[in-house]
Amino acid sequence: MSESEATIEMERGIAQIEASYREALESARDENELRRRNAQYVGAQGELTKLMKWMPKVPGDRKKDLGRRVNQLKQAIEALFSARLEAIEAEAMRAELEGPFLDVSLAGRGVRPGRLHPITRVEAELLDIFGALGFDVADGPLVDYHENCFDRLGFPPDHPATDMQDTFFVTRRQTGASATTLLRTHTSTIQIREMMRRKPPLAVVAPGTVFRRDDDATHSPMFYQLEGFLVDRDVSFADLKGVLTLFAKRLFHEDILVRFRPSYFPFVEPGGEVDISCVFCEAWTHDHERTAGCKVCKGTGWLEVLGCGMIHPVVFENVGYDPEEVTGFAFGMGLDRIAMLKYGIPNIKLLYENDVRFLSGF
Ligand code: PHE
Repeated sequence: MSESEATIEMERGIAQIEASYREALESARDENELRRRNAQYVGAQGELTKLMKWMPKVPGDRKKDLGRRVNQLKQAIEALFSARLEAIEAEAMRAELEGPFLDVSLAGRGVRPGRLHPITRVEAELLDIFGALGFDVADGPLVDYHENCFDRLGFPPDHPATDMQDTFFVTRRQTGASATTLLRTHTSTIQIREMMRRKPPLAVVAPGTVFRRDDDATHSPMFYQLEGFLVDRDVSFADLKGVLTLFAKRLFHEDILVRFRPSYFPFVEPGGEVDISCVFCEAWTHDHERTAGCKVCKGTGWLEVLGCGMIHPVVFENVGYDPEEVTGFAFGMGLDRIAMLKYGIPNIKLLYENDVRFLSGF
């Protein structure tokens, strides 16, 4: 590229810009368009800016003249741009003032209020019900010792619940850790902790999350339980029945029926499971046809809701209580399951997807 070619390129470029910029800026219809066109000339990639790259090649005696013309052109473009911008803004203001009246008193778009999650609501209701019966509320850590989750509750070392398949271990003594710790598989850990911390009499409920390697339409690897237990002199199975029957009536329906079936948990003796009459076909009304067709209770009229029993003497020994002196009962229920039954939720996953369409349906 010779010196005279550089000079010619610059002359040509200046002439082209001089011929076009006025029309380009004046015909811009709004601020965006004006700014875009202005940038086509004087922006970082603009035509005028690009012209300057010839400058080093321009012969000395022409440099001063061409440089001055580029600067003048730049100033002219900037002046026209400012004038046009002002005119466009003034026009926009005039159009707004002369245009249709904006009624600022019109009602706005409603803000949809949030709601408590079904599990939070069930938990609050249960704490109310048991609080009215004199139960305290306790809490415990999500990661706990193997001892609090299994051993002190009387689980034998080879119990299937303590398997890798069921439990999320955090540290394991077998691999050199100083203690075996895990994500608690049930809230019964809080029974142990509270009993070791306090002397009887005591009545406690403890809601919280628990973790198991379970995952299907009715099981989630993280779910909620509520543990309850009461220890005193002369506590009997009748007290347990009374408390749980009252709970079922208050939470679901005054006429609900409750049935106790024998079952096994290492930390209770006798142990049982509690069924309530189905809340979907309202089995307590004895409408046999309706119950026969009910998909939820599968025609049986009963729904299982919790595990319970009289606290095993070995558990009392493990926490330093005298089983000759005190007796007590314990129960544990899944809050997810209770919420699903109470609100007719078909799949446990819906509780954890945070979909507002689902959450606002209650
Ligand atoms: N911890 C038991 C479970 O998770 C439930 C339970 C609690 C049973 C208290 C009896 C007494 O399955």
